[in-house]
Amino acid sequence: MQRFRDQVAIVTGAAHGIGRATAHRLADEGAAVVLADIDFDDADRQARAIVEAGGRAIAASVDVTDRGQVEAMLALALERYDRVDVLCNIAGVAFVEHFLEATDEKWQKSLDINLTGVFLCAQVVARHMVEARIEGRIVNLASTNGLVGEAELAAYNAAKFGVVGLTMTMAIDLAPYKIRVNSVCPGLIKTRLTESARMNPQWAADYLKKIPLNRFGEPEEVAAAAAYLASTDSGFITGHQLVIDGGQLTF
Ligand SMILES: NC(=O)c1ccc[n+]([C@@H]2O[C@H](COP(=O)([O-])OP(=O)(O)OC[C@H]3O[C@@H](n4cnc5c(N)ncnc54)[C@H](O)[C@@H]3O)[C@@H](O)[C@H]2O)c1
Repeated sequence: MQRFRDQVAIVTGAAHGIGRATAHRLADEGAAVVLADIDFDDADRQARAIVEAGGRAIAASVDVTDRGQVEAMLALALERYDRVDVLCNIAGVAFVEHFLEATDEKWQKSLDINLTGVFLCAQVVARHMVEARIEGRIVNLASTNGLVGEAELAAYNAAKFGVVGLTMTMAIDLAPYKIRVNSVCPGLIKTRLTESARMNPQWAADYLKKIPLNRFGEPEEVAAAAAYLASTDSGFITGHQLVIDGGQLTF
């Protein structure tokens, strides 16, 4: 499948996990990909792997919480590839702490990276799409934690609920420009973000009881959903939250 032939995508958080899988998926389907991450070395390693496999990719060093760096990320994409058709906002962090012990510092950091980062990247790239009259697609990484609560994740849940609300409003505001905006809402996916929890056998066994498919998800399964929402296959879908959780939220 070459759904992204002649198209350009920016993927934030592309050095690891879901972002990395999404960058590879879009590149495999023909996109030129800008792998944007605060961890430049690993983003660059992934970009080189894509190029070695015959694809088109570059890495960009960006802290998604800094508007100046986000503007520089777009400038690099335009300098190298002239346009941006797809933005996948995937950079994120999670801190586990009971509400009563939650600190101002982690609260702020969670909101800054998980929510403000999505706002900044989306606004900067959407302005380019509007100016260049591109019928762009924006995919935001929310979470099942953007739809239901979970213990000891107050700041993460607040940020991800914010991403869902932001997605819905952006979908309305950008619809007149034919730019579609959707979220993917994964359950528990096998990345380093969830590694320490998954390595606890009792915790993992208890958690699996909540998942009808009785397994954790793979980053590539989220990447496939993100690619669908980023492609013209989803042409009549905007403002939607696509849940990828092995059935967890059906309980
Ligand atoms: N793993 C899961 O179970 C799961 C479930 C639901 C949602 N998510 C979301 O998926 C996204 C990706 O998470 P993951 O599981 O792949 O984790 P990960 O830690 O493997 O990847 C996160 C990436 O974001 C980058 N990043 C962090 N802060 C950044 C910043 N300020 N600027 C730019 N890049 C930054 C990291 O360097 C890393 O490459 C996150 O938004 C996360 O909240 C993950």
